[in-house]
Amino acid sequence: TEKNATSIKRLAKLVKNPNAKVIFMVGAGISTSCGIPDFRSPGTGLYDNLAKLNLPFAEAVFDIDFFEKNPEPFYTLAKELYPGNYEPSNFHYLMRLFQDKGKLHRVYTQNIDTLERAAGILPDNLVEAHGSFAKNHCIKCHKVFVQEIFEQAINEDKEFLKCVHCNGLIKPQIVFFGENLPSLFFSSWDDDCAKLGEDHIVIVAGTSLAVYPFASLPTEVPKITNRSLINLQRVGDFKNNPRKSDVIYLGSSDHAAEQLAAELGWLDDLKILTN
Ligand code: OAD
Ligand code: ZN
Repeated sequence: TEKNATSIKRLAKLVKNPNAKVIFMVGAGISTSCGIPDFRSPGTGLYDNLAKLNLPFAEAVFDIDFFEKNPEPFYTLAKELYPGNYEPSNFHYLMRLFQDKGKLHRVYTQNIDTLERAAGILPDNLVEAHGSFAKNHCIKCHKVFVQEIFEQAINEDKEFLKCVHCNGLIKPQIVFFGENLPSLFFSSWDDDCAKLGEDHIVIVAGTSLAVYPFASLPTEVPKITNRSLINLQRVGDFKNNPRKSDVIYLGSSDHAAEQLAAELGWLDDLKILTN
């Protein structure tokens, strides 16, 4: 649309500032084109498709109290969600391009699919706010469990795993409802937020901003820093407390990535990464 075209031009102009540094805040919407469903999109989202797991409520599958009593639904789902043969999207590679061009300050992701790593975002630039499947541990004594054994178990439909030390349940280090986010999330955001100035741009993409504390990040961005939302619809603080300076793109994150890359003269670089 015309509004989106204007937004891409405005965003490109901000990025072209030689001192520009970008912080991305992303969610499941940037991975739907990779074949991974998001959580809350009506019909296609995960929470609308959990009927077969017989849950009391959809989000119970990621609820720590529920998991302790009945780990089976999560193990069933983990098998489907386990990072496998998924390829990063255009949008993941656009973030990588910001890194290559020296314009990336940080990526905050709620996703557990590890596609930011796959796209080449460096560990120092990445905050996996809801953890990932990369490690797992005992929920009682917190001892780390060997990854390969967990992988084998979910792929072979074995009994769910128990800790050899204390018989506690083994669970990937993804953050469940009722659990704390990793301390790196809070320390990084404290540092980053304090530094945000007029040369920074915060780009929020592919998230419903429904889950806290992540959803409060865009709200905490100081007024001198430009914010942008790239999403199918307006969400969170962009809906409830819009700022005049907000740059809003309503549509697919991959289309936005291509259009922004084109506007910045980065389209060839993007094509090399996505091929
Ligand atoms: P949601 O499913 O809540 O929101 C995804 C958002 O992305 C929605 O607003 C969609 O409209 C939008 N969207 C979908 N496809 C898109 C596309 N191709 N381009 C642009 N936007 C698109 O997912 P999250 O906000 O990531 O927690 O959910 C937050 C947390 O809730 C997740 O991290 C997860 C869940 O419970 C855990 O797994 C611990
Ligand atoms: Zn244990």
